[in-house]
Amino acid sequence: MLKRLVKQVLPSSAVAAVNNWRTRERLYKSWSKAAAAAPAYGDMRLTAFRIERSRRLIGEEKSYVQPPADLLPAMDIPAGRFVDFGGSAGEMCAVLREQYPAWSFTVVETKSMADAAQALRPEISFSDQLPPEFDVFYSSGTLQYLSDPETLWREALSRTTRYAYLARNSFSNRKLFTVQSSRLFDNGAGPVPDGFDNVEIRYPHQTISEASLTGIADEMGFDLAARFEGRNSGVTGTRADVYGADLLFKRR
Ligand SMILES: C[S@@+](CC[C@H](N)C(=O)[O-])C[C@H]1O[C@@H](n2cnc3c(N)ncnc32)[C@H](O)[C@@H]1O
Repeated sequence: MLKRLVKQVLPSSAVAAVNNWRTRERLYKSWSKAAAAAPAYGDMRLTAFRIERSRRLIGEEKSYVQPPADLLPAMDIPAGRFVDFGGSAGEMCAVLREQYPAWSFTVVETKSMADAAQALRPEISFSDQLPPEFDVFYSSGTLQYLSDPETLWREALSRTTRYAYLARNSFSNRKLFTVQSSRLFDNGAGPVPDGFDNVEIRYPHQTISEASLTGIADEMGFDLAARFEGRNSGVTGTRADVYGADLLFKRR
């Protein structure tokens, strides 16, 4: 009753602001505090679901997954070594491989995902470690799920000979540690396999400073070759100061 009265009295912008405030995600003081509140991404139930879902896409990946067109100029040599960091069960690499058959493709994933996906797509290499050297480093929607994204970025660039592309980013000038919540069926693409319940899945998440990634790239000998505004599919949660942009870096 009181709620209804307040709603009638307040302007709709104030009601929206109150609703936003009520549904905003909880902030944690550090990654370790967020990680203590939710299991890491390699949760076996999540991996099993994503593998079964991906199995149904074999041979038809390009109907479900498209590499960003802006990545393709980075593949400007006849044969090269491509790394997709956080590349799931290799769906995007499978699409690229059709177009670039002379290239080699490695997906770096959580150990549970890498082990399970290797049997699914044997033409792609899977590992939970970065290879010693590669020509193109690609990562989409993944750095925000690491405990130390900046160190991984530095390490990846030290092994990259030509280009690095970051897609589906979750940028903010403020470090925000949260726990992201999703439904199991929102993970991965394609028809939902039988035998799974659409349970809640939670994993720790942190925003990343775009300036810090660009600064690290500069130190590691890379220029920002292109920046694509408004690519917001990696933005989660309700905070207004989180934004996306795809970044393409080129070794000097
Ligand atoms: C939101 S998904 C993005 C998947 C895909 N790259 C895309 O853009 O659709 C995040 C991916 O990061 C992977 N991931 C999480 N922690 C990781 C880690 N420590 N090393 C490698 N991959 C990780 C997850 O298994 C998952 O595939």
